[in-house]
Amino acid sequence: MRLTLKIWRQDGPDATGGFETYTVDDISEDMSFLEMLDELNENLQARGIEPVAFDSDCREGICGTCGLMISGLAHGPEVTTTCQLHMRSFSDGEEITIEPWRAHAFPVIRDLVVDRSAFDRIIQAGGFISVDTGAAPDAAATPVPKVQADRSFDTATCIGCGACVAACPNASAMLFLGAKVTHLGELPQGQAERNSRVVDMVAQHDHEGFGGCTNIGECAASCPKEIPLDVISQLNKDLRVAARARR
Ligand code: SF4
Ligand code: FES
Repeated sequence: MRLTLKIWRQDGPDATGGFETYTVDDISEDMSFLEMLDELNENLQARGIEPVAFDSDCREGICGTCGLMISGLAHGPEVTTTCQLHMRSFSDGEEITIEPWRAHAFPVIRDLVVDRSAFDRIIQAGGFISVDTGAAPDAAATPVPKVQADRSFDTATCIGCGACVAACPNASAMLFLGAKVTHLGELPQGQAERNSRVVDMVAQHDHEGFGGCTNIGECAASCPKEIPLDVISQLNKDLRVAARARR
């Protein structure tokens, strides 16, 4: 395949960015999107041009490090992470626009790399679990209903990639936050700090500059782990219960 790439280039957080256009040839449909960018960077380096900065780590859809806005869609046209997106999802001759996540709380560091440490600070604000869960055999002594165990496991699959924020017109992180609050809130071990956790995490979310949810649903549609939209309802419910308990 031969592709035209319109890529956002920006030298640093305070520099003025802009799109540059490049072409890549001989792209196999079996390549991943990041391998295609690796190929571009090798070509750029050979021509003495600064390679395009982008983030990745596991390249297996596990770590949440990668994340690009691809032709206006967070992680591109498939429900997957950018590293698991393959070039067979594109056509020969296509023009692809590649941008970093766009959100006030995720400032651009360089080119396609953004600072997502706001998510780390939200997790930190949630604090720790004070319940002593004991050794491995003790785990079986605490019964957890299957429905709750499944819900907890499913929401724990959030990899913190930030696609939900990038896709949301309000740059809200409430799907991420809802996933984190739900996965602990469903378990007996997560009850001791349940109220303080949700209050503190929501306060940090707002402090970081993420917007509020207005039920648009782009977040869940873009989530590579298919975190359901109703975790936001759970988040709001937990917040109301916590606020009532504080009165
Ligand atoms: S909720 Fe989904 S889109 Fe948002 S950070 Fe978690 S995995 Fe990524
Ligand atoms: S590089 Fe780890 S999820 Fe994509």
